Amino acid sequence: MSEPLRARSTSTVGRGKAVVLASKPSSAQFSDKHVSLHFGDALAHYAAWPSPSAIISDGAYGVLGFDGDTSDHLDVPRWYEPHVKAWSEHATAKTTLWFWNSEIGWAAAHPVLERHGFRYVNANVWNKGKGHIAGNVNTTKIRRFPVVTELCVQYVFEAKVDGKPLKRWLVEEWKRTGMPMKRANEACGVKDAATRKYFDQGHLWYFPPADVMQKLCDYANRHGDPKGRPYFSLDGSRPVSELEWRAMRAHFDCPHGVTNVWDRAAVRGNERVKTDGGRAVHLNQKPLDLMSRIIEASTRKGEVIWEPFGGLFTAALAARQLRRRAYAAEIDSTYFQYGIKRFSEPEPQG
Ligand SMILES: C[S@@+](CC[C@H](N)C(=O)[O-])C[C@H]1O[C@@H](n2cnc3c(N)ncnc32)[C@H](O)[C@@H]1O
Repeated sequence: MSEPLRARSTSTVGRGKAVVLASKPSSAQFSDKHVSLHFGDALAHYAAWPSPSAIISDGAYGVLGFDGDTSDHLDVPRWYEPHVKAWSEHATAKTTLWFWNSEIGWAAAHPVLERHGFRYVNANVWNKGKGHIAGNVNTTKIRRFPVVTELCVQYVFEAKVDGKPLKRWLVEEWKRTGMPMKRANEACGVKDAATRKYFDQGHLWYFPPADVMQKLCDYANRHGDPKGRPYFSLDGSRPVSELEWRAMRAHFDCPHGVTNVWDRAAVRGNERVKTDGGRAVHLNQKPLDLMSRIIEASTRKGEVIWEPFGGLFTAALAARQLRRRAYAAEIDSTYFQYGIKRFSEPEPQG
């Protein structure tokens, strides 16, 4: 990686904080049946957390958003590097990463994510609407259109077999059978969809559903060169089973009527965590409903969610309400203490 232009980002300590609690947390961890919230650097905790079905990252934006945020996007790659490396060591083919950021912050971080094996799926735009800037923009001075958006970018962790990405492994296994590619269409009982979709090596590639995979597998092992059998095997001794194949990709349930533009005002009113004096505790508190949306879409009940940069632990709170299991960290003592107060409500049953 090339060196950033500056050795260190500008200090952001104390900036924009409505409150700094003098007291320290009475315990470095809050846990119940659904959440484990840690006071400290996420890097110190990843190794002890179970492997995640979803990672929800809401860290440095390069906009001086919290103590330790980078002051511009140039330092964003270096900031994320150790975290993304650790995520890649604990992620599986079932892991979805939701990466919240500004547009330029995401652009800067994307190469780091890709290099560590996360595959881009979709960019979702959180549109906070005109209310977000009402009365705050002097159009005679401003040199760009006012920004009212953030991104929440979906990645999956690239499944690999024998060190090869799945789409390459599929084609290479078929080639090993010695049969022409077009026989894969016959195997699946389609005109050309198998070669067009499942053997494509670009962005038009489709993950073969379990029933299709079963057909490819049966056909290859019945008609392929006997010397090369088994074909499409993960362990070298038998073809992949339906259950194993289903575990090779992340879960996704698309809710009806939701697109990749999320019109939703910034957090206000009762939802906003405030000081006794009524000031917002954290500049970056995310809406609970958007966190619930991504958790519901990408995980099932009982599955594990990581929230490395907890802030006020909005993702962990949503995870608890949805009966998932959240593992989260927050490095700032004040945010940690306010964050864990949100968990004083009784836990959902079940
Ligand atoms: C953008 S905010 C997250 C806001 C959160 N999504 C919410 O809804 O409240 C990022 C948070 O990450 C924390 N943070 C930064 N580096 C961290 C690290 N290495 N480990 C744990 N937390 C960290 C910051 O103190 C900050 O509160």
